[in-house]
Amino acid sequence: MAKEMKKIMVTGSVGQIGSELTMALRKKYGNDNVLATGHTTKPSPELRDSGPFEFINVAKKETIEEVVKKYNIDTIYHLSAILSAVGEKNPVLCWDVNMNGTYNILEVALEHEMTRIFIPSSIAAFGPETPLDNTPQETILRPKTMYGVTKVAGELLCDYYVKRFGLDIRGCRYPGIISYETLPGGGTTDYAVAIYFEAVKNKKYTCFVKEETRLPMMYMPDCLKAALDLMEADFSQLKHHSDFNVTAMSFSAGELAAEIKKYIPEFTCEYEPDFRQEIADSWPNSLDDSAAREEWGWEPSYDLAAMTKDMLEVLSKRHAEGKLNY
Ligand code: SER
Repeated sequence: MAKEMKKIMVTGSVGQIGSELTMALRKKYGNDNVLATGHTTKPSPELRDSGPFEFINVAKKETIEEVVKKYNIDTIYHLSAILSAVGEKNPVLCWDVNMNGTYNILEVALEHEMTRIFIPSSIAAFGPETPLDNTPQETILRPKTMYGVTKVAGELLCDYYVKRFGLDIRGCRYPGIISYETLPGGGTTDYAVAIYFEAVKNKKYTCFVKEETRLPMMYMPDCLKAALDLMEADFSQLKHHSDFNVTAMSFSAGELAAEIKKYIPEFTCEYEPDFRQEIADSWPNSLDDSAAREEWGWEPSYDLAAMTKDMLEVLSKRHAEGKLNY
């Protein structure tokens, strides 16, 4: 029997995860079957030239609906979000994009009978009252950032649409995501990306959290794998839907700097904590992702050593060729 053709839309496709997820989906399902959307009219040449791109504002439902109809969309990966640090600078925008955006996506999905939707959550769903080591799947969710508030509410809203309307929605709580293609757009875990670029470019970095700050993290290939695997999982086997803990590694800022130093011995890192320290302190040190492992076979490939080797190889090559855009 011929496999049903998917017509996929990615929101937030110019963002850190969205840009790479769009390309992975185009590779898997065909360029023309994956519509990239974003809050810009100027996507990267790679996104623009490899398949369709449309402007949408997820906070305005009609802009979503227009492209859903035009491209006959049946599957959505909803990646648009204002991250934690920018969200604290502009909580109103954060609520509008994250909350109204998610609500609009769910309503459009319901009205247009989508077959499947992916909406990620984050470690920001947790808060200082959560057990911070090996944080359980079921635990206290009392975030202290607007970003976290929207992520918890988003999880609950997604589960409501699953139970009440029978929509097939899936999502995981991503840790900090590290990658070399597109920089993150204003999160608390951004130091774990910036440190690699600065180490290659300037051999020094001033980190905005303390040396001992420990957070769960994941390398981009595993982040993409989580989204693709969870979306392929047998829905009937899932006990959870929108809130799977997933993790790959956990390290302190100091341990990250020490790992980089193995490749770049002259690299130095200083620590000057700013307002993001308090956010980082309210998030877990490590996560228990056994529910994801049991229910859909989650298994990451990269640890700190393997990720650092790969990151530095790619960035050093780009730097040598004068192509390190940072
Ligand atoms: N990386 C995100 C942030 O720092 C967490 O989901 O805001």
